[in-house]
Amino acid sequence: MTRLIIAIDGPSGAGKGTLARRLAQALGCRHVDTGAMYRAVAWKALQEGLTLDNEPALALLADRAVFGQEAGNITIDGHDVSRAIRTPEMDQSAARVARLAAVRAVLVARQRAMGQGGGVVMEGRDIGTVVFPGADVKVYLDASAEERARRRAADDAHTGGRQAGVDRLRSQMAARDESDTTRAVAPLQMAADAVYLDTTRLDAEQVFERVLRLVEERKRASSSGD
Ligand code: DC
Repeated sequence: MTRLIIAIDGPSGAGKGTLARRLAQALGCRHVDTGAMYRAVAWKALQEGLTLDNEPALALLADRAVFGQEAGNITIDGHDVSRAIRTPEMDQSAARVARLAAVRAVLVARQRAMGQGGGVVMEGRDIGTVVFPGADVKVYLDASAEERARRRAADDAHTGGRQAGVDRLRSQMAARDESDTTRAVAPLQMAADAVYLDTTRLDAEQVFERVLRLVEERKRASSSGD
């Protein structure tokens, strides 16, 4: 059986999480949400009273942390942070942590170890470009800024049920996109060999079906010796 590595990248609100979960379930693969790892490191750093520019301390924390992602629950060192990491404050803190080269180096190495041997759907910003440049399937999901903000506003897991204005979310997301795409290390960009999928006018099911088709094609190609 082919154990594929499937890389899903793109900006926030493009539908990566929904797609990666569905795919992993359908294919019997492991789902790794790498954004949750940056978020969990930021959460733990704040718990420990570290400032988010303390690069060596944050890298050490990232190196020693025990990350868990079982049944959709995100844990770090045994703490269930599934909800705590999805606040607007943590959006900003995680983006700051994600700019630190030493933290990225540690998390990228850990992500490679998690995906080694395949059978994984990994979502993030740099999976197809940095973590697994040789991934079997690479998808870059995108959607209009308006649609991404609308999805975020409707996402209870993210807003904690609080009313979040689409306009405000849209400007916060634009600031974060700017940070993610302009940072010096591993900025968000599409891998040259990724399949670009604009999900603005597609529902989750349509996105899933299109990507599943790509995966099936890839499987056929690899079993026929391509
Ligand atoms: O996907 P997310 O919103 O949960 O990601 C949180 C932050 O981490 C966001 O600023 C992007 C960043 N990130 C990254 O730099 N590299 C990844 N592989 C995943 C996320």
